[in-house]
Amino acid sequence: MGVQSLVVACGAVALCLALTTATNPGFVVRITQAGLDYANQQGIAILQKELAQLKLPDISDKSGKVRYQLSRLRLRDFHLPYSRITPISNVGLQVSISNAFAELDGDWRVKLRFVRAHGSFNLKVENVYIKISLRLGRDAAGKPTVSTSECSAHISKVRVRFSGRLGWLYNLFHRAIESRLRKTLESKICGIVDKSVRNELQKFVQTLPVTARIDAKTGIDYSLVAAPRATAQFLDAGLKGEFYSLAHRSTVPFSPLPLALPSDHDRMVYFGASSYFFNTAGIAYHEAGALVFEITEDMIPKDVGFSLDTSLFSAFIPQLEEMYPNMPVKFRLSTPTAPFLTIGPGGISLNPIVEAQAYAILPNSSLAPLFLLSLTGNVSAVINVRSGRIVGSLDVGRIRLSLKDSAVGTFEVRTIQSLMNILTSKILLPRLNARLDEGFPLPLLDRIQLSNILVRFYQNFLLLGADVHFQPRG
Ligand SMILES: *[C@@H]1O[C@H](CO)[C@@H](O)[C@H](O)[C@H]1NC(C)=O
Ligand SMILES: *[C@@H]1O[C@H](CO)[C@@H](O)[C@H](O)[C@H]1NC(C)=O
Repeated sequence: MGVQSLVVACGAVALCLALTTATNPGFVVRITQAGLDYANQQGIAILQKELAQLKLPDISDKSGKVRYQLSRLRLRDFHLPYSRITPISNVGLQVSISNAFAELDGDWRVKLRFVRAHGSFNLKVENVYIKISLRLGRDAAGKPTVSTSECSAHISKVRVRFSGRLGWLYNLFHRAIESRLRKTLESKICGIVDKSVRNELQKFVQTLPVTARIDAKTGIDYSLVAAPRATAQFLDAGLKGEFYSLAHRSTVPFSPLPLALPSDHDRMVYFGASSYFFNTAGIAYHEAGALVFEITEDMIPKDVGFSLDTSLFSAFIPQLEEMYPNMPVKFRLSTPTAPFLTIGPGGISLNPIVEAQAYAILPNSSLAPLFLLSLTGNVSAVINVRSGRIVGSLDVGRIRLSLKDSAVGTFEVRTIQSLMNILTSKILLPRLNARLDEGFPLPLLDRIQLSNILVRFYQNFLLLGADVHFQPRG
């Protein structure tokens, strides 16, 4: 951004702050050399096809006294057997293609004084070197961009073979033709490269879902916070990595901490998901009102041997049953604040506070509040990746109860400890885990599948590693 546009943007103070505050990503995608090698294979296969479609114009020229004309120039094939993509620190990516070769057919026609001749020819092009520099950026929507910043093509060997009569004529002009075709090809190759980068590669990287709608209530913002950055070993893309409520997106009251990925490189791609990423999920679901859960009689499994009504409490809270004899009871569980988790080398842990309000359901269906409990407990999470999505499941340690409010007099909360254990472990948790098992989408480009998953925990972030498979259209 130029100084001028910065000044303009700073006219609005809020924008100026947004521009000057360094933004740590909440989510980092890292592509290793193994990933670049795989991308290279896929990309080169496409470029090879594009180059084979290369169209050459007819050529007519003079070499000494010989007038010649080349027409119907057709590339038979173009082979790119050796190529490599390397990240260049703070520049981008460099693609080096060496020892490429191609073959070309065409018709020739010459005129030397009164002699006219014509025939066909075949041109073998060898030792083709192509060097391409790719610049990576991000557009206004936070999607990645890629463009060719440099391209050079050099052909060091061409051999032409003519068929037709008057062989002696060939010697008069084959050098001219070879050099002419070499130059023409060299100049066309970079045009094709540029076109492929614009039409294929750029379109492909733009398939990054920068806003991933997850369900009816929330989405994830995966927009790039800065242009992808190349180091000597990796290509890193810092994404916002923030969940938000679709109905009302509010500013997250904390920022992501810097995310220092380890220098692992045996997988093609690594994802660093910060605690910020997960904690904004908590905020988004809390704000969307999705962290409210009701437990009613019909949800009680048959095997637990009780039904959820006021008689259940007769032994511990006798006055409850006296006030509301034989009435169904329901619990309404909610989180007074968004749950907050921490990630450390030992895994993910959270200590959410859940409030459980018990109601008696009166014969006319209105609800009579009975008591309000506060539930706390250590929750641990297991994380995995399936079908390009982060999936998880939670486990709860011992639940601690405290009585916050009661309309039925005080009582010892430990008397209903086992009831609350059953409600959380048999009803709440399985339903929550069923949702977590559906997972949340990772920021993947179109037609990319992951395999060979690795999951590891570090201070403040979760590291996911994977190999990539590109599913061709088809
Ligand atoms: C339902 O019944 C209760 C107690 O009999 C009463 O206080 C309440 O007003 C009733 N509610 C409605 C909506 O009729
Ligand atoms: C809960 O977690 C805290 C800290 O994370 C730990 O000190 C405590 O022992 C845990 N309690 C249980 C019951 O697991």
